[in-house]
Amino acid sequence: MAKTRTAFFCSSCGAQSPKWIGKCSSCGEWNTYVEEVVQRAETGVNTGFQVKKASTPTLITEVVLSGENRIDTANNELNRVLGGGLVPGSVVLVGGEPGIGKSTLMLQVALTIRNQKVLYVSGEESEQQIRMRAERLGMGRNECYILTETATNEILGHIAKLNPGIVIIDSIQTLTSDNIDASAGSISQIRETASELQRFAKTVNVPVILIGHITKEGTLAGPKLLEHMVDTVLQFEGDRNYGYRILRSVKNRFGSTSELGIYEMQSSGLREVSNPSEILITQHEEPVSGTAVAATIEGLRPMLIETQALVSSAAYGTPQRSCTGFDTRRLNMLLAVLEKRSGFKLGVKDVFLNIAGGLRVEDPATDLAVVAAVLSSNIDIPISSKTTFAAEVGLSGEIRPVTRVEQRVSEAEKLGFDAIMISRLNLKAAKSVAKTIKVMPVSKIEDVFRLLFG
Ligand code: TYD
Ligand code: MG
Repeated sequence: MAKTRTAFFCSSCGAQSPKWIGKCSSCGEWNTYVEEVVQRAETGVNTGFQVKKASTPTLITEVVLSGENRIDTANNELNRVLGGGLVPGSVVLVGGEPGIGKSTLMLQVALTIRNQKVLYVSGEESEQQIRMRAERLGMGRNECYILTETATNEILGHIAKLNPGIVIIDSIQTLTSDNIDASAGSISQIRETASELQRFAKTVNVPVILIGHITKEGTLAGPKLLEHMVDTVLQFEGDRNYGYRILRSVKNRFGSTSELGIYEMQSSGLREVSNPSEILITQHEEPVSGTAVAATIEGLRPMLIETQALVSSAAYGTPQRSCTGFDTRRLNMLLAVLEKRSGFKLGVKDVFLNIAGGLRVEDPATDLAVVAAVLSSNIDIPISSKTTFAAEVGLSGEIRPVTRVEQRVSEAEKLGFDAIMISRLNLKAAKSVAKTIKVMPVSKIEDVFRLLFG
């Protein structure tokens, strides 16, 4: 009997160390090392599925391309985020907090994908539970097999027999490998099981989708470790109080990482939201102060989203600044610029900012809408709900141009907006596509106030 051997692993990045250390030398995180048993089973490596293939060096020009034969997942939002569909042999990690809807999304994909045999492996729910969920989602007509199993050698054995075209694992944290004597969900198990599945995917050219849990604290084997191993990392997120869910690509070896997929959680599963602007703009009966619509672009898709600001006198000593869906530091910067350039005493006011719909925006073109919303709330005069904004604001109060302004203008026009405020430096491009929409160029923050409120 071999002696039990243990090692220490960083729970953030998965780095290994023979002894405990306080700061991870690989990712720089503190206090992330945990001890784990790494004793190898004496039977040797047995993954249950082994295709021995001698690898030889090949001239890059002689590597045979299998062409762009991506697998259509029958889910447009997912296809877009993946960069056009599933790449055969790729490993995709879908991460997200518990209860956000990962299992629902993947089961939905398993049920609707066409011309593919799908194996849905669950270590979390029973067959009956999955069947009940499938009925709620509307049963597909395709070949979807359910397997409730957590041991990887068993799973790989079943795969070898069934020969599915797609494998979905729910979740990687429940899997165990015989080769490692550690509990499910531990870092060494995750590393081992994920690499076994990755080996399988690459040898037989079948895509594997792994579902992974993320805890807020990231204490459990964080996704970081897996992120290095897989080809694509998708993050499923959203505010649980809103019905909207966003699928974001964090890493993608086969596509862009700036794409977004938007879903709405309904009682019969996730509905794809193909026109996000419609849901992100609140319909007001009459104009209200403190709201401004930004013409943003997420990935390749233009999106009009509403920013809402509330400026009020600070009731207590220190004024509060609070943001939902927007970077607080960026808001502070914009407020400082406003204070300096427009002379408003915002330093003594509480400022709250909210992006409607529970979305998180990163596009710098949102700046101008935020500034407009703050100004509007501060003087309590509404901005026309038919006006939209697309520009970045610089530290000296200059209104800076943004990328792909043509697309933003066209989208605003399509959705019935009658004016768009942009940087003067974007004027030519905006004018080239504007048909009915009025283009309002500005170059300084002072102009914004004057144009909006006279
Ligand atoms: P689930 O997919 O189990 O989350 P995860 O796998 O990420 O932990 O989704 C759970 C939530 O989704 C749960 O709170 C119920 C809700 N839900 C719906 O609103 N509609 C549906 O059709 C389904 C299946 C789930
Ligand atoms: Mg689940």
